[in-house]
Amino acid sequence: MPPLPPVPRFLRRLLTVLAAALLLLLLPAAAREASSASAEITVRVLLPAPFHDATTRELPQFHRDHPGVNLELVRGPLDTDAIQDLAIGSLLLGDTPFDIMMMDVSWMPLFTAAGWLSPLEPYLGAGMLAAMEPGARPGNSFDGHLWRMPYSGDTGLLFWRTDLMPLPPRTTDELVRISRDLQRSGRVRWGYLWQGRQYEGLSCVMLEVIHAFGGRWWNPASGRTELDRPSALQAARWLEDLVKEGITPPSVAGFAENEALQQFAAGEAAFLRNWPYAWKVIENGGGPVVGHVGVAPVVVAPGQEAGGTLGTWGFSLLRGSAHPREAAEAIRWLTGPEMQRSLALNEGYAPTWTALYEDEALQKGAPLLAVQRQALAAGPLLRPPTPLYAQLSDVMQRQANAMITGQSDAVSAMSAAQARSDALIRAMTGTPR
Ligand code: GLC
Repeated sequence: MPPLPPVPRFLRRLLTVLAAALLLLLLPAAAREASSASAEITVRVLLPAPFHDATTRELPQFHRDHPGVNLELVRGPLDTDAIQDLAIGSLLLGDTPFDIMMMDVSWMPLFTAAGWLSPLEPYLGAGMLAAMEPGARPGNSFDGHLWRMPYSGDTGLLFWRTDLMPLPPRTTDELVRISRDLQRSGRVRWGYLWQGRQYEGLSCVMLEVIHAFGGRWWNPASGRTELDRPSALQAARWLEDLVKEGITPPSVAGFAENEALQQFAAGEAAFLRNWPYAWKVIENGGGPVVGHVGVAPVVVAPGQEAGGTLGTWGFSLLRGSAHPREAAEAIRWLTGPEMQRSLALNEGYAPTWTALYEDEALQKGAPLLAVQRQALAAGPLLRPPTPLYAQLSDVMQRQANAMITGQSDAVSAMSAAQARSDALIRAMTGTPR
């Protein structure tokens, strides 16, 4: 197992993390989702709050199908950074109370390099991903092993107002032009809302926009970032200008997914960047835009290829599990077609199984399926697949957020992000010299 790199961000947050993990260990059994008093084996899963709630609805079926196994879902925090800290804290404590962890795709390189996971193919067999959409497969297998089964095939999408325009924009230029026209004529207050807070969601936006201008965050061949290249600078400048020109409100610097969604749902803007679940939340929310929201792939600069950030979550088996066979079966069930059908219908999550995209009954109940499939087919974008990702993302978030708030500008922010990423990679790996 390669040694775990030193992680300053984790050190800074270690106390919080350990305290939270201890709290989890001490959770009274009654507060958990225990369900079968006669169960012989308990399989415990840590998952973020929204997925916990959605999965819990289906739990009685699991217990009917798996007598003798008690699947216990432990509700973690909502946001990926917070739950990653909690997950790592519990693993660093040694004897983790969990058998299964729900994993954001961006955590996979670190968790596999750290040796915290067990490969799944000995339990589930080879070829588990073969019946999934090709775009939903990346981020699950490394070094010839399957480390995670995906629960969703979510990618970043563009939400647009069908009452304000006949068709969605395809390019960054069109989005700006439509926004300006609508704002000038007073039909809408803001053009485009996205995630600008200093957190992981901003890294997802940056990955998408850098790609949209023909650049890339990470070069796998050199093992370095490419943030000071002209295309990355153009991308950063586009976001900076959106804010400077008032197409995006300055308050975007504090927006995570939910804040952006709520403003859009309140009818404040023409466009929103978010994940697929946003559509259901807006449609169920009863606000002024209900029935007027279309969904399209994210915009790209003229002549560039489409691509949204891959934002999938999935389940991994922890190496310390005392019941790996039962846990792997639980993962099969948690990620199976029946679960994903329910998630598509009730939550609006994008499925991974090809058969679900071709199911006519499901297409009627989940109208986003076609665009979700199109976005997956466009080759969704993976965040830099390195165990150093959390630190690289931290650098990106700080610099991009400083630019959005006007403390920095596009060129300084991206040059600093490149220099700091280089320094980090050099400190951890000895290259580049
Ligand atoms: C969503 C995505 C996840 C991403 C996060 C950022 O949860 O599924 O991949 O890291 O948003 O906020």
